[in-house]
Amino acid sequence: MPDADEIRNAQRAAWDGLSAGWEKWDSIIMDQLRPVSAAMIERLDIAANQRHLDVASGTGEPGLTVARVAPHGFVVLTDLAPEMLEVAARRAAQQGIGNIETRVCSADDLPFADASFDSVSVRFGYMFFPDLRKATAEFARVLRPAGRLAASVWIKPEDNPWTTIVMQAIASEMTVAALDPDGPHMYRCAAPGQLTALYAEAGLHDVVESDVGVELVTRSPEEYWDMISEHVSLAVAALQQVDEAARQRIRSRAIADVSAFEQGGAVRVPGAARCVVGTR
Ligand SMILES: C[S@@+](CC[C@H](N)C(=O)[O-])C[C@H]1O[C@@H](n2cnc3c(N)ncnc32)[C@H](O)[C@@H]1O
Repeated sequence: MPDADEIRNAQRAAWDGLSAGWEKWDSIIMDQLRPVSAAMIERLDIAANQRHLDVASGTGEPGLTVARVAPHGFVVLTDLAPEMLEVAARRAAQQGIGNIETRVCSADDLPFADASFDSVSVRFGYMFFPDLRKATAEFARVLRPAGRLAASVWIKPEDNPWTTIVMQAIASEMTVAALDPDGPHMYRCAAPGQLTALYAEAGLHDVVESDVGVELVTRSPEEYWDMISEHVSLAVAALQQVDEAARQRIRSRAIADVSAFEQGGAVRVPGAARCVVGTR
């Protein structure tokens, strides 16, 4: 089992490497994940002058949306991977959002004073942290009393065909290692109640879990393949291990399989996430 530094270093390198794919496919990714941000932000009850911390902000969401909802407030976007945050800063500038700053740091060691934020969000970041307990304790520490934490995680792979189609195509060409229940990967926090237990341990109360459906929409099966193979962490890591001929066979199979989801001139593949909110 790698130690915390090794996990952080591997995650930083992996996400810096994925940042170009995330920027290239930004509008499709953001459309897919918008219902999750909406559910998180609704439960955070953002005021116009909110002081908000977005952890594992990546290319900026949901922090940038919070910054728009809180025009007299301030949002700090944090992430371990500097190149992801550079994309976030470019997106903020493109959208004319000025009430933000970016800060490179790890979720389990936040460089902020106690009780310095009204709310904290973590969209699809939890599963990659080296120490989930330590990170949750940090979120509780920087929240003011009665402040809220909202996080989202992916539900199990079977409920997320938008990734499993490609992963099954990859598995037809190579042995894909079973997902380590304690290791960093996108399905590590799929178990119902897992985040609720972490929140409770960190002293948060009124914790509520709710499921949120998403839909990945691309213009064609080919576009589906291109975007998944260029930005989904599990797929990109596995595809680095196959040669070009195998990659082409995987591509053909994924494109054939995702064609079952074509409707009305687009490809629409469902998925499911869980949103967990608690109060300090
Ligand atoms: C799936 S992306 C989510 C980005 C964004 N929140 C979104 O939903 O679009 C996961 C992010 O977690 C970040 N991450 C991984 N380990 C981290 C850590 N220890 N501390 C902070 N961020 C981390 C990665 O760099 C990456 O940007």
